[in-house]
Amino acid sequence: MSKMRLIPIIAIDGPTASGKGTVAQKVAHKLKFNYLDSGSLYRLVGLVSKELGVSFSQESQLYDIAKNLPVHFDGEKIFYKNQDVSDLIRTEEMGLRASAVGAIQAVRQGLYDFQRSFLTTPGLVADGRDMTTVIFPEAQLKVFLTADVAIRAERRYKQLIAKGISANILVLTQDLEERDARDIERTASPLTLATGAKMLDTSHLTVEQAVRQILGWYELTEL
Ligand code: C5P
Repeated sequence: MSKMRLIPIIAIDGPTASGKGTVAQKVAHKLKFNYLDSGSLYRLVGLVSKELGVSFSQESQLYDIAKNLPVHFDGEKIFYKNQDVSDLIRTEEMGLRASAVGAIQAVRQGLYDFQRSFLTTPGLVADGRDMTTVIFPEAQLKVFLTADVAIRAERRYKQLIAKGISANILVLTQDLEERDARDIERTASPLTLATGAKMLDTSHLTVEQAVRQILGWYELTEL
């Protein structure tokens, strides 16, 4: 068995605003594992393509952006060419652009190696769409985190308001539904429950309860 196989991986997928980012980060923190927020990479490709005026039909340019993304993480912050873009990528516009570029296979290919490079000791919590299926199919624990759309819209609304970004709950609900539909219907890595993934509905759970459930499942996995 290769050494790579022995590094534990917890892969967490689910619809946008299901709380997977917060939960995944806390699980990683508790286990002292590395953390990959793959959604932030798609958001960044969305941002950079907008700034460079590259359209969604220019696949080879999008591939180049994804493949050569000068990005680095520092705790919860994400830097592009040493510029802190953490807030810039978190807007609804970038969420929708991320969903659009995420549907393009060339972008997914461009980001593949970089995402795999997060797999280092002592372990990895990987959050995002195809973590359980394409990027880390060997993950010992796969979780599909979800919540009712109304609850997700309310959570997203509170997050944005807390950051001083104005928001409208009806528009947010529509955006989430639009993004869910696009994520489910697309052919490139659609939003789906992977074989062997455990479903966790967080509609009525606190973050701590969700984290505890995942850690409990992880303890039961055989490495
Ligand atoms: O998780 P987050 O909301 O930041 O992701 C934004 C969008 O990026 C998702 O709705 C999805 O369409 C896309 N994405 C993806 N593959 C990933 C992570 C995110 O296609 N691994």
